[in-house]
Amino acid sequence: KRLVILISGRGSNMEAIVKACAAEGWPATVAAVISNRPDAGGLAFAAGRGIATAVVDHKLFPRREDFDAELARVIDGFGADLVVLAGFMRILTPGFTARYARRMLNIHPSLLPAFTGLHTHERALEMGCKLAGATVHFVTAELDHGAILMQAAVPVLPGDDAQALAARVLTAEHRIYPQAVRWFAEDALAWDGDVVRHRDGAA
Ligand code: GRF
Repeated sequence: KRLVILISGRGSNMEAIVKACAAEGWPATVAAVISNRPDAGGLAFAAGRGIATAVVDHKLFPRREDFDAELARVIDGFGADLVVLAGFMRILTPGFTARYARRMLNIHPSLLPAFTGLHTHERALEMGCKLAGATVHFVTAELDHGAILMQAAVPVLPGDDAQALAARVLTAEHRIYPQAVRWFAEDALAWDGDVVRHRDGAA
């Protein structure tokens, strides 16, 4: 399966997936990394690994529909089977999410459906949560609401600030995102209505 990974910044999740795909026997290859920001740190890593990179700068498109149309054109040009959002910080139009229905994943730094949107770690700390975590989900028109594919929980520890908690959650992200991508690439997913799971019930 051909993956196209979308980033906006550091790209550490993209890095984790690129490294996993480089391992022998992996059922997926990273066809390209696309950023909406020309200065995204992750672009250099991808280029250094010999992966095609592209920038679709949202600032050049006053209308969201036009940005999404150009983004789709570039993604499809790389022959993507799966679109992987990895710290991609743009809201996508319903037309775009429909085009990649059931073949676009996102990772979100909370245990969804809790804490959709931004500042998840601050909000988890404010609420006194004892567990935090990360969720890999399919992308639908409603932000952070698509079918949940994989989750990992981490403890909230005494003395945590948002930065410390974010770092612990990020470690979990790097573990589950490549695994979730692998399940997709192996055609191991079964849909039951809007719910998705591994077809053999793997956890
Ligand atoms: C991750 O925590 C991701 O869950 C969130 O933004 C961060 C991106 O980090 N949406 P990176 O760019 O993958 O390093």
